[in-house]
Amino acid sequence: MAHVTTAFFLKPSSLISIADCSRETLDFILQSAEKLSLSPHPELLKGTTLATCFFEPSTRTRLSFETAMLQAGGSCIGFSEAASTSVKKGESLSDTIRMISAYADIIALRHPLEGSARLASLVSDKPILNAGDGANQHPSQTLLDLFSILKCQGRLEGLHIALAGDLKFGRTIHSLSLALAHYGARLYFVSPESLPLPETIQRDLRRKGIKFSFHPTLESVIPKVDILYMTRIQTERFASIDGSFTNSCLLKKHHLEKAKPHLKILHPLPRVDEIEKAIDDTPFAYYFQQAAHGVVVRGAILGLFLRRLPW
Ligand code: CP
Repeated sequence: MAHVTTAFFLKPSSLISIADCSRETLDFILQSAEKLSLSPHPELLKGTTLATCFFEPSTRTRLSFETAMLQAGGSCIGFSEAASTSVKKGESLSDTIRMISAYADIIALRHPLEGSARLASLVSDKPILNAGDGANQHPSQTLLDLFSILKCQGRLEGLHIALAGDLKFGRTIHSLSLALAHYGARLYFVSPESLPLPETIQRDLRRKGIKFSFHPTLESVIPKVDILYMTRIQTERFASIDGSFTNSCLLKKHHLEKAKPHLKILHPLPRVDEIEKAIDDTPFAYYFQQAAHGVVVRGAILGLFLRRLPW
């Protein structure tokens, strides 16, 4: 087995929240992803098995975890909906995870309940990778977001970044805001009035001395930023949808007329209607490249938490 890195021991053996990750851990994973992208290791994860346990729909997260595993010589088991598991018969999440820990070496878990990944990490003797727990956290998405920002801007330090859309329920926003605090970003939060950034995240950013402001619409913010991170409205997390709700964060091509030439638009995807399709063919669009980076970044995460990285 490859030697275990110092960075690995800086943090717990599961990836549950970006709040658990030091700057050193984030940088280490980003550097590992870059190394893997330059020089693939087809046998890095040989003999190991990933279980993808997805209790909520997914295209990118599940398939990029599985692709990364297969490309590195590992194998995959899993499910993509609770209906095909014994949860349907009343089995608890704890018992489910306990059993899957006996079949796999590492588990990527997506579940609608906040805290589910933390709970799973307490009952599993194998690493848990939080692939999204309700509106709480999505740390592997944040790592690929950071990797994408680094790729398209050449740096992470001191950027002006707008985070727009559903700031209340958007787990990618919560994770990414905390991560960007490590890099001294200036943050602009843009959302409909009814979907503000949770107070807990605001408190954390204030404590870390991060400068941020709130805006009801995109137009005034776009000329100021290097990155515009769009998100969809998470209607599935609304108790009920108020018929009068309107999304004030719809990005149109003409909004980009005063953008900095090097602005890049990111989005964790799936997109619904918050980015006009005409933007896809402009140099500002980076969201499909961003999603493609998921394979190499999740490969680095798997390598680290399976203790297989050779550096
Ligand atoms: N970004 C993201 O989590 O996409 P999926 O829901 O398709 O996994």
